[in-house]
Amino acid sequence: MAKTVLELKGVSQYFPGIKALDHVDFRLEEGQIHALIGENGAGKSTLVKILTGIYRPTAGEFLLDGKAVHFHGPTDSQHAGIAAIHQEAVMFPDLSITENIWMAHQARTKLGFLDHPAMRKKTQAILDQLGMKEDPKTLVRDLSVAGRHMVEIAKALSMEARVVIMDEPTSALSLREVEELFEIIHQLKAAGKTIIFISHKFEEVFGIADSYTVLRDGKFIGSGLLAETDTASLVKMMVGRSIDQLFPKEHIEKGATILEVKGLGKTGIFKDISFNLHKGEILGFFGLVGSGRSDIMNAIVGIAPPDEGEIQINGKVSHLHSIQDAIRHKIGYVPEDRQNQGAVIKMSIRENITLPQIDKIGRLGVIDRKKEQAMTGDFGKRFEIRAASYEQKVLSLSGGNQQKVVLAKWLATEPEILILDEPTKGIDIATKWAVYQYIFKMAKQGMAIILVSSELPEVLGMADRVMVMHEGRLAGGFDRGQADSETIMHAAIGRHADRSPS
Ligand SMILES: Nc1ncnc2c1ncn2[C@@H]1O[C@H](COP(=O)(O)OP(=O)(O)OP(=O)(O)O)[C@@H](O)[C@H]1O
Ligand SMILES: [Mg+2]
Repeated sequence: MAKTVLELKGVSQYFPGIKALDHVDFRLEEGQIHALIGENGAGKSTLVKILTGIYRPTAGEFLLDGKAVHFHGPTDSQHAGIAAIHQEAVMFPDLSITENIWMAHQARTKLGFLDHPAMRKKTQAILDQLGMKEDPKTLVRDLSVAGRHMVEIAKALSMEARVVIMDEPTSALSLREVEELFEIIHQLKAAGKTIIFISHKFEEVFGIADSYTVLRDGKFIGSGLLAETDTASLVKMMVGRSIDQLFPKEHIEKGATILEVKGLGKTGIFKDISFNLHKGEILGFFGLVGSGRSDIMNAIVGIAPPDEGEIQINGKVSHLHSIQDAIRHKIGYVPEDRQNQGAVIKMSIRENITLPQIDKIGRLGVIDRKKEQAMTGDFGKRFEIRAASYEQKVLSLSGGNQQKVVLAKWLATEPEILILDEPTKGIDIATKWAVYQYIFKMAKQGMAIILVSSELPEVLGMADRVMVMHEGRLAGGFDRGQADSETIMHAAIGRHADRSPS
């Protein structure tokens, strides 16, 4: 029998109006990779924050090696050998990679001085291990979303903890980076470490974890070995019902061309991008992380206008220079980086949803509260945003619920063209289903949709046509039914790929 490293008994964590965890039991066996599973808002990240000393539970017992412990803060947890990669990383953009990694636990020499050479050397070793090519002196602000996430992972590794917790570590990573991360997880396991792994992707959970615990609505539902269960049973435990068909897509007749892009280019980023988009069409944009998809979308909506080429909206050449221009042209944009571009996290759910359309719900600067509330309630319900009330700040929502607010905010603008960049990132399977239903319904009503995604099943399941990007260029376009996953993947990795995807 494996030894129990840590155990929670009847642990509760209450916030005003919400029982984030309600008498939860949780047990972690040494040397295992343990998956924590549950819908958005189920309480996964809250459990992580209890284990890492960020929250002190309202009730219950926390045992480490069989002995009761009381953490008074993150430092206590670090000293006990627990490190975490949090879902929403708190980073210092103006500090270097090395500085960010060693911020909380600087290495010191025997005399108590900061040991800079040791920190630099170790940083380089960890970056090598992670396959990161960036110089450790690089400022975090200059890194991509994936790069920043890798720094978080490096930080956790630098702590040499015996329990490593990863809260959705893969949601911002490219395929290759995920492979590298899995390699590292295997190494950690081989070295006798225990890992808690959180992900909404079942392939990942079954691919890497040994055991699991399912939470629903803050309650413990069940635990066991993954070898003794399957996806359908887990989904049922998670959601409380079964989901048969994830993609609702049926055929929709295409309408007139609404967007035409000709020879779009931006120096050093993308080139020769031409495509058109019809009313009622869902156009998929697939490519590996970093292939330029988000840059093209930023160019189309005017956040970072292109250097060359032409954009026609409804047959008229248009020059967009800001997101306000986009809203005026009835383009909605759900960006990938929800923390920096998507939502104003210090504002409430209501304020976020109604923000882009102050003119619709107000007149002469006076906001019609009734209209505002109706709009918030409508979209809040439609996406099942889980919160104590719509006055709750987006900051304190679970990761997936933050993503839902961003979606609701842009759909409420009733755009004619909707650009979605990784819309289901971090969203659980039941909500994904709701989002797909909604996208499909909008397309049926004539909305033209661009769906940027790194998830092949999502693109294949939802798009009428798929444009594939490779290193800043279009590597191919495929109609629905014409393309299988292999063809698309092949185009996405280009001919020079040194590894084939599995
Ligand atoms: N600081 C806080 N203040 C108020 N409510 C909170 C706070 N932190 C979490 N919650 C609430 O507790 C519930 C559980 O949130 P948690 O972040 O643990 O969910 P999760 O399982 O990690 O979800 P996701 O898959 O979306 O990341 C949510 O309803 C959330 O809004
Ligand atoms: Mg979470």
